[in-house]
Amino acid sequence: MLFRQCRGSLSVFAPAKLNLFLEILGRRADGFHELETLMISVGIYDTLVFREGNAGETQLLCHHFESSNPKTSDGVSSLPVNEEENLAFKAAKLLREYSGTTRGVRIGLFKRIPIASGLAGGSSDAAATLAGLNRFWNLGICRTELIRLAGKLGSDVGFFLSRTPLAICRGRGEIVTPVNLPGKMWFVIVRPCTGLSTPAVFRECQPAKKPKRVEVLLNDLKSGRYDRLNHSMYNALQKPAGQLNQEIFELRKRFSTLPISGHMMTGSGTAYFGVCTSRRHAENMASRLKRMHLGSVFVAGSGP
Ligand code: C5P
Repeated sequence: MLFRQCRGSLSVFAPAKLNLFLEILGRRADGFHELETLMISVGIYDTLVFREGNAGETQLLCHHFESSNPKTSDGVSSLPVNEEENLAFKAAKLLREYSGTTRGVRIGLFKRIPIASGLAGGSSDAAATLAGLNRFWNLGICRTELIRLAGKLGSDVGFFLSRTPLAICRGRGEIVTPVNLPGKMWFVIVRPCTGLSTPAVFRECQPAKKPKRVEVLLNDLKSGRYDRLNHSMYNALQKPAGQLNQEIFELRKRFSTLPISGHMMTGSGTAYFGVCTSRRHAENMASRLKRMHLGSVFVAGSGP
């Protein structure tokens, strides 16, 4: 997350995330699933601009770039236009209630991160609102407390408030353990024409009988063994997502024809990504993927 202060306004750049590993450890009594996942923030950004508003009021205005709203036929991909359902709006409301501030705010939300794609754009917007308004309203709330509030908004909101781009997330995703990233990583990402609903994918998944562990992947990343990534990267949601949306299988098939060492779906989909050895490698792969007309193609590096 990046901040830029400018004469009376504060801009926050909210990154997307990829899951490099995701295992389902169990089903919980509250309906959520116990997870072990390795998340990395990447440089596709939504921008949130905070400006002073009428006392006690929160206003939200959304602007879509084409990338955020790929042509859809599934009806699950539209960003909640209703303020009350939007995660950034909910975050502002939560912070107002928690702090008791009477300050107002106008939030401009510029969407670039594709929605319903497992890139957590909505969660990142919520985290950016918590961190941004904490500064804008001078609330002085500590990071630990912000992370606790983030847990009330969504399972992966807290990840975006951690100090490192890479973290292991456990529990329902809200228990965040930062991990050192050995160097910058580069990715090519494709968001197909249709999206998927997260609850629908989780409903179809089964907890693992013999869970895979994230340590194997961490060792491969630390030792630079990118050639092993196709064995150590794993997403337990890919199979159920593929059963709901055939585009996932098509993406896997197409990525398999390319010189990319590790590739898979992120989160509950539908975006699919490959780990590249450099920016140039990612750009080359992006050119080839664009010619396949599978959806919107992005190149992104790991980043704050
Ligand atoms: O926490 P969040 O609002 O992002 O979760 C969206 C939905 O995804 C939940 O309502 C739930 O159906 C599913 N989910 C889950 N287990 C998790 C995280 C999410 O079942 N650990």
